[in-house]
Amino acid sequence: MNPRIVALLGSPLAEGNTAKLLKKSIAGAEAAGCDVQMIHVTELELSACREHYFCKNNTTCLMEDDVSPLYPVFRDLDSLIIATPVMTMGIPGHLKSFMDRFQVFFCAKYVRNDRLVVKEKRMIRRTLLLSISGMNVPENFDGVVLSTKSFCDVIDCRYDDELLIRDMDNKKDLDLFPDLMESAYQKGFRLGGLLTGKYEQLKSAE
Ligand SMILES: Cc1cc2nc3c(=O)[nH]c(=O)nc-3n(C[C@H](O)[C@H](O)[C@H](O)COP(=O)(O)O)c2cc1C
Repeated sequence: MNPRIVALLGSPLAEGNTAKLLKKSIAGAEAAGCDVQMIHVTELELSACREHYFCKNNTTCLMEDDVSPLYPVFRDLDSLIIATPVMTMGIPGHLKSFMDRFQVFFCAKYVRNDRLVVKEKRMIRRTLLLSISGMNVPENFDGVVLSTKSFCDVIDCRYDDELLIRDMDNKKDLDLFPDLMESAYQKGFRLGGLLTGKYEQLKSAE
């Protein structure tokens, strides 16, 4: 069975620049021999965390919605790609609410000391962050990166690599920037290839 990567799309636009970047990374990960499940997060029916804290004593959430069947998927995945635009200097609300629902993993890890992710998975799991901002100011990605690192810690999928593209309001269309698209492909290939051995093979052949 091939290693399994989950790819989260945080933009509402299925054909926007964030989606284009993500699809390139997915192509790279697939070329490296991984199976990739893309989840368009804004299409999910989900509620924001209500702090019921059912998860303090249970391995799931009291609220049942489109997040519920994804808990086992996140326990079992081998690596993760998160692709998101910057909105109001942070992660867009729907994706942020999705991430907050992983308090289920937080409580298992930090309240009960009984992590949901087994050690063999924890050793190999990595996250690649792809993010795009409209503006070009120094602190553009601070919020996105901070929240993503926190999420990675919660789900035991270490923050490993990033591609942060600023000034999208002027760039307009990523298809006009083949070097950035290629970079997304290569980062996807690396993420997948580190799981299948193809990345090391490529590097030792260079
Ligand atoms: C509601 C909203 C809030 C935004 N806030 C920011 C922001 O704080 N900083 C920034 O640089 N760009 C901001 N943007 C611009 C987006 O990051 C930019 O347009 C990005 O390219 C959108 O990617 P997409 O078309 O793939 O969804 C915002 C856009 C929207 C719709």
